[in-house]
Amino acid sequence: MSFNNQSVIITGGSSGIGKATAIAFAQRGASVVVSDINIEAGKAVVQHIKENGGQAIFVRANVANDQEVQQLIDQCFQTFGQLDHMINNAGIGQGLFYFDQITNEHWEQTIAVNQTGVFYCMRAALKIMKAQRKGCIVNTASAAGIGAASRMGAYAASKHAVVGMTKTAAVEYGKYGIRVNAICPTVINTPMGDSYLSENKELQNLMLHSVPMRRFGTPEEVAKTICWLCSEEASYLNGVALPVDGGATA
Ligand SMILES: NC(=O)c1ccc[n+]([C@@H]2O[C@H](COP(=O)([O-])OP(=O)(O)OC[C@H]3O[C@@H](n4cnc5c(N)ncnc54)[C@H](O)[C@@H]3O)[C@@H](O)[C@H]2O)c1
Repeated sequence: MSFNNQSVIITGGSSGIGKATAIAFAQRGASVVVSDINIEAGKAVVQHIKENGGQAIFVRANVANDQEVQQLIDQCFQTFGQLDHMINNAGIGQGLFYFDQITNEHWEQTIAVNQTGVFYCMRAALKIMKAQRKGCIVNTASAAGIGAASRMGAYAASKHAVVGMTKTAAVEYGKYGIRVNAICPTVINTPMGDSYLSENKELQNLMLHSVPMRRFGTPEEVAKTICWLCSEEASYLNGVALPVDGGATA
């Protein structure tokens, strides 16, 4: 699997799944744009990639800000001359609340980043990819995008929206040589995944036993799946919401 002479943008690239994905693309020859609101951690990812012989730049962008997203896409285009792959991965998941406990602030913040952020990134990338007549988009949804996620109502709403946007864009842009897919992980060992479970052993146990493989996933396993989805190996996959979950949603 080679991404030589291809560029990729990864939002939320400073940590967890995004960081592992940035490194995985760089290892396979891609020119990588690491983007995040966490500047220090993002620059460290770029440094790691360069020290290992890869090519990468960091661009700070808040995905919930349309202008910053446009500047991110422009910078990739100016630096690398094209945009082959767009990985819309930045996301937040804060706290566990039953529906009647969800505040307006929690709802709006979750939708702004996880849903509207993905929309801004897809819209900007699709404009360029349509003109190029090629491109691949992978959105990081969640198992909470294809089924219930108790006490995560806002998160589940935002991730179901990501799956809806993925399928709709796949149908609209397939004719331009663009593929749009989503991945749907369950618990992955990242700072976000750990934030839910580290202080709640009962929930951790429950979640673990919902996974037939009896372990949580690693960011590297998700990263490899994202790379595969963007590769020629998956050239006829379009509009799927792919569980990456050790069989949990089966
Ligand atoms: N870890 C899990 O268990 C799990 C499961 C299913 C889906 N996901 C999804 O995977 C994606 C990555 O999560 P992760 O587990 O690697 O989490 P993480 O917290 O390790 O990384 C998320 C990154 O997104 C960045 N970010 C947050 N808000 C942003 C914004 N407005 N603009 C730009 N960047 C922003 C953060 O700074 C961070 O670097 C998210 O979309 C998350 O919803 C995670």
